[in-house]
Amino acid sequence: MNVLSRLQAAFQSVLENMVPEHGPYLEMIRPAQDARFGDYQANMAMPLGKKIGLPPREVAQKIIDQLDISNWCETPEIAGPGFINLKLKTDWIANELSTMLKDPNLGVSSAAAPKTYILDYSSPNVAKPMHVGHIRSTVIGDSLARILRFVGHRVITDNHLGDWGTQFGMIIYGYKHFVDEERYKRTPIDELGRLYRFVRRLMDYHYSQASLPDLSSQIFKLAEQAKQKEEQLEGAAKPDAKKLRKELARLNEKRKDTQNQLAKAEQLIQDVEQDESLLQVANAHSGINQAVLNETADLHAGDPTNRQLWDEFLPACRDDIQKIYQRLDIDFDHELGESFYQPWLGEVVEEFKSRGLATESDGALCVFLDAFDSPMIIQKRDGAFLYATTDLATIRYRMQKWNPDVVLYVVDHRQHEHFAKLFAAADVWGYEQTEFRHVAFGTVMGPDGKPYKTRSGDTVGLEGLLDEAVQRARSVVDQNLEKSADLKFEEAERQQIAEVVGLGALKYADLSQNRASDYEFSYDKMLALKGNTAPYLLYPYARVNGIFAKGEIDSSTFRQAVKGLTLDRDQERRLGLLLLRFENALAESLVDYTPNTLANYLYELTAGFGQFYEKCKVLEAENETARQTRLALCDLVRRTLKTGLSLLGIDVVERM
Ligand code: ARG
Repeated sequence: MNVLSRLQAAFQSVLENMVPEHGPYLEMIRPAQDARFGDYQANMAMPLGKKIGLPPREVAQKIIDQLDISNWCETPEIAGPGFINLKLKTDWIANELSTMLKDPNLGVSSAAAPKTYILDYSSPNVAKPMHVGHIRSTVIGDSLARILRFVGHRVITDNHLGDWGTQFGMIIYGYKHFVDEERYKRTPIDELGRLYRFVRRLMDYHYSQASLPDLSSQIFKLAEQAKQKEEQLEGAAKPDAKKLRKELARLNEKRKDTQNQLAKAEQLIQDVEQDESLLQVANAHSGINQAVLNETADLHAGDPTNRQLWDEFLPACRDDIQKIYQRLDIDFDHELGESFYQPWLGEVVEEFKSRGLATESDGALCVFLDAFDSPMIIQKRDGAFLYATTDLATIRYRMQKWNPDVVLYVVDHRQHEHFAKLFAAADVWGYEQTEFRHVAFGTVMGPDGKPYKTRSGDTVGLEGLLDEAVQRARSVVDQNLEKSADLKFEEAERQQIAEVVGLGALKYADLSQNRASDYEFSYDKMLALKGNTAPYLLYPYARVNGIFAKGEIDSSTFRQAVKGLTLDRDQERRLGLLLLRFENALAESLVDYTPNTLANYLYELTAGFGQFYEKCKVLEAENETARQTRLALCDLVRRTLKTGLSLLGIDVVERM
């Protein structure tokens, strides 16, 4: 049951006869912030009055007179300048809750016009260690896929693995020069990881060396320019001074950035130089940066040795990330990585050329797009294809195979420009019917306000992160159980609870944030028992199980037997209303693909349950009708939480 849509539909029939463009006015119906103003509030009379030239209260009255909702709402009231306060009939709420109680789908109806969605998410560059940033794309994409499926859409998930990039040139080079055969045979992925990091270090060393002179002279130049500005400022008149000060600030900012870059480069150099034998290796491989590019180019050109190594490495890399997915309960319908599209890149480029969509510029093949200063390059001067070329081929393949209505790319916001251009190119290519969306997200930050790095930079990968979350959850669980001495929990159950709570907390910390913003990674915050956290949301589920167990009530027999609900108490009615908002929360989380909308709803529901539970005895209710009603509310809360959490990819525990 989507109460809001139902109200909107009722208002729509009225507004249709008053204004041609009524859509935005319907958006102005919202759940009331304060119970004194009813359950929902409609605020369109004010702007509408302005538009049609009538006093808002009069407009409100006109709307009310024509509104056909008397079957399920009390007579609306007009408040203040023209707010329309709407109150649902309590009997009607009770009735809807009874229906919801008996419906395995909790009253959520299936999409009237199902669409085909392709979701491109996770998509790590394999052969590089996965890092915390990959969690975001993975859990956001997974959750959106689950919600879309739940409401009845056709969903195809595809992990667009980066399995063809320079990182393979790096491990091929590493393998050829530095492999520890013994170790590679025993634990290939560990050895490949080591090789990746080792080559990365050598490359960084040489890059940094090469960049020093340039960085220093840039800093010098910026300092000179700043000095000049300062001198100009001394004698400048007011309007000029303002402009000069701005320019000065910009120069100083830039100098600071460059100084930071220089410091970082010096650090990377020092790290190598401190280690005598490493320095020797670095010097013996002074051409490593070019050599790695060559290894990559050879792989792409079909060199048999490199191709054979790639064939050998790839399964190990896939196994490695598979472990993470398994633990996080993530799976994909397809995992068509970048390598899959290589055979068609030439064709795609040819098509762009022959249809005049791409033109040569400076030897490179470019797609010039309106509204962009720089073109999208699809083939470099040396003939190499790019990330964008693969993405074009991917679009063509997906369109031919699945003909989607919507394609979502759940990718870091830093790739904004890439996707904006890609989608513009898809339009001119002829796919303007399909909606392409970059579902962008912000950065995971550490407590120092910088992008979060796993311990000691990179040695503890994503797996270590998951382990730590579980381990910390375990101590929270243990501490908590000490307080409830009457319950017995064996070791295995404690560990299972810790696993669910730890991983759930990790996912929830991410999904409860507005995806566009950066958020701070903190084990303490995500595992707190109070506040908007997974442990807080998991608690009522276990508690309701406890109530049913204590009352020796069989849940499904109970659901079938319930006659009707009576919402006499305020807390009961309010909780009932909250439960009826589930479908709306799902719909809203799909408007702009924001799982946090669902998370926040579940948080509100949990808080509402807390208020109810504090005031209303359940098993010892004052009479049988109240007992039935409260048990029904409890049951609906636990099922809504379980389903809602499962749509965020989070499991529940039976008791905790
Ligand atoms: N592998 C890319 C990266 O790690 C993300 C790929 C996203 N998907 C896409 N179709 N471009 O940055």
